This record gives sequence, C-alpha cells and structure tokens, in this order.
Amino acid sequence: MEKYIITGGKPLKGEVIISGAKNAAVALLPATVLAGDVCVLENVPDISDIRKEIEILRQMGAKVTRLSPSSLEIDTSTLNTTEVPLELGIKFRASYYFLGSLLSRFGDANVPMPGGCDLGARPIDQHLKAFTALGAAYELDYAMINVKTDNLQGAHIFFDTVSVGATINAMLAAVKAKGTTILENVAKEPHIVDVANFLNTMGADVRGAGTDVIKIRGVERMHGATYTVIPDQIEAGTFMVAAAATRGDILVKNVTPEHLEIITSKLRATGAVVEEFDEAVRVIGVSEYQNTNIKTRPHPGFPTDLQPVMGVLLCLAKGTSIVTESIWDSRFRYCDELNKMGANIQVESRVAVFEGVEKLQPAPVKATDLRAGAALVIAALCAEGQSEITEIQHVERGYVDIVKKIRALGGDIRKVVVPEGEVLKKAH
Ligand code: UD1
Repeated sequence: MEKYIITGGKPLKGEVIISGAKNAAVALLPATVLAGDVCVLENVPDISDIRKEIEILRQMGAKVTRLSPSSLEIDTSTLNTTEVPLELGIKFRASYYFLGSLLSRFGDANVPMPGGCDLGARPIDQHLKAFTALGAAYELDYAMINVKTDNLQGAHIFFDTVSVGATINAMLAAVKAKGTTILENVAKEPHIVDVANFLNTMGADVRGAGTDVIKIRGVERMHGATYTVIPDQIEAGTFMVAAAATRGDILVKNVTPEHLEIITSKLRATGAVVEEFDEAVRVIGVSEYQNTNIKTRPHPGFPTDLQPVMGVLLCLAKGTSIVTESIWDSRFRYCDELNKMGANIQVESRVAVFEGVEKLQPAPVKATDLRAGAALVIAALCAEGQSEITEIQHVERGYVDIVKKIRALGGDIRKVVVPEGEVLKKAH
C-alpha cells in the first residue's frame, strides 16, 4: 500500500502543465474500436484508468504501441473478441464505453458491470435505453452486460437524465446505425465535444455536440485517424484552487480557458485573482477569502468533480458557504476527513454548510474517492505540519504525476510505500 506524506504551510508557486483530459481519453480509447484500423492518440494522460484500457485492448487482440509518454498508436484491426476481460473491466467506470463501440462494430458486446468511484447509485439505465432504441437487446449475466443486435437503426432518443456516459455511449453506438439518430437532453461537457470531434475525424457524421441536441447520420465505414485529446478541465481546476488555497501563485498552462469559466468566476467570487491568457490561466492567492455558494450542475454549470476541491477553499473563506450537490448522492464523504483537519462542515443529505475556519491542521486522512483525494492533498498542503493521506490509488486514477507536479511548485509531498504490518499496527 502507498500513502502521501505532505508537510504543508508553503504557498505553491510556479508553472504547471496540464495533461490530457481523463474523461475524454477514457472514451477515446474504446472509440478506436470503431476504426478497425490504426489510430494515433496524442496528449493521452498516463493514469491508471488509461493503463487498464490499454491492457483491455491488448487482451482483446488490438496492438497498442506507446509512441511517447503521452501518445499511443492503437491498431484495432486485429481485435478477436467482443468480450472485455472481467477482472479489468470491473475496476473502473469507463470500461462501459466498450459497450457502444463493440456493439456498433460487431453487433455484439460483453462488458463487466462498471466499477469506479463510489459516489452513490450509478445506474446505467439511460445507456441501455439508447441501445434498445437503436435496435439492440441486452441481458445481464453474472456481472456481465451483453448487448447484441442484427442491425442498428437510427432512432430519436430523449434522455430522462442528462448523462455524460449515456450521451457518449449513444454516440458510439449510433455512428454506423442505418439512417439518422437524434439524441435530445444530452450532456454538453467539453469531453462530449471531444468524442464527437474524434468520431468525425474517423469518418463519422456527428453534429451538435456541445448543444442539447446531437444529430448523427450513420455512415457505412470509419477509418483510422490521428487526434489530440483536450486538456483536463478538472486537473486544471484542481491546480487553480491549490494556488488560491495555499495563497500561492500558479500559471496553469495548456488549458482551454473557456472550459474553466465557471471555476474562474467562483474563484473570483472568493477574492482570488485569476488572469486569463490564450492557453493558460494564472491564479494568485490572497490573504483572506470571502464565502460563496456552489450548486453543482451538468456543464456549463459548476462541475461536481471540482466540488470537493473547491470545498477546501470554502473551509478557509470567511463566513458561511453553502454547497449543494445535484449529481451524486455520496459526494460529501471528504467532509468528514476535512473535519478531522479542523474544518467546520455540517452535511445534511445533498447540502453541506461550510463555516470558515482560520486554518486547517495536519491529520491522518483517507482519500475516499478520486476527487476527495485531490481535495485532501490541497488541504494537507495548506495545513502547517505533516499530514498523511492513505487510499491514494484513487488519486492516481485521475492525476498524471501529481507528486512531481506539486513538488515542482514547491510543495512538500512524498509518496511512500507502507508495509502491510505497519498499517495493521496503526489500525489497532
Ligand atoms: C461522468 C464522469 C464523472 C462525473 C460525472 C458527472 C467519466 C468517466 N466520469 O460520470 O467524473 O462526476 O460524469 O459530471 O466521464 N444517471 C442515471 N442513469 C444513467 C446514467 C446516469 O440516472 O444511465 C444519473 C447518475 O446517477 C447521476 C447523473 O445521471 O446522478 C449523471 O451521471 P453521468 O453524467 O452519467 O456520470 P458518469 O458518466 O458516470
């Protein structure tokens, strides 16, 4: 087991380069199945979810070559099965994108029920609704989902819930369906647009991504393509908040500032200084922060994935801030951990009330999920003294070289291996 040891109290200062977007890349790798040809993906984040997808593609017969730390050549012409290996697929959420792409190419897909962060109920009924509308049938068998069809037909699908995953899976399934598909009440996140752009580069005809309605004309053939993944909005937001919370000064590079408007405006509301450039933003911390309220929403609203991270700054802001979570049931588990560090947060169902405190104190805490882990890293960087964070495998699912990037900004963070015995001794 590994943990982070962080000695906080120093402002983070300098420049950081943001990696490719996790939530885009985890959909683009399964999308290469549609090409049945060679694709080159650039700016792919080297994180554990991506490594699992590479292993899935390899075990299914694809050839995956790492051209550089962030670029991959993927040849899916040699795929020889429609079954995603259970032990790999079950470990993370995005493995379900193989449902859409395998169904589209082969008319058959067998994918384990997806894992991922425990944020409360994570149903996939809207994915299944889309596959069914396109003419597929599904069944569940011993933790595997099987979806199959003789013939995918374009359809008009109105989603009951705005879902990132269902929107992407429906696009993947519909690109080669006969006729036209119209998807309504879709998600509009930057990674939805990225997936549509990649599909079009491979020969698909997808229009309207980024709006409420997506129109897809089915094409007969798709082909290989070279494509660059967009910058990670959530990683960028994490470093922006880290600059403010540690009262530092960070130039966050390789970003798309329009994707960061909502976090920029919330940071400004607290009093932090944010300067925007063409492909960078600079955040300068101040000595005192003002309270502000946050309600998470699908894009272009405040992203739920940045809610825990922003929560750290609200712990330190003067007065009362109210955070309302409207996407996930269990997104506030990080608050118990922050309270161990001296925060004053009361959680009632999907609302958390943050009473600002003077400072956070070091403590041993646990990363309960990916973004909770990122929040605790920032909190520990703020708290003067030594904190320990366990369960960091969650953090490493989503952040490339987080230790290296924070150290380059002057943060005192180390990753250490904990012998099993030591953990047991501490637990008693
Ligand atoms: C994606 C992101 C995740 C982010 C979330 C919301 C990836 C790999 N993960 O997750 O980091 O927190 O978007 O921005 O991209 N829902 C249903 N039925 C469905 C699907 C979803 O009811 O079939 C509900 C969910 O329970 C949730 C809401 O819709 O309340 C949004 O979920 P969704 O957008 O699908 O999230 P994910 O794609 O799983």
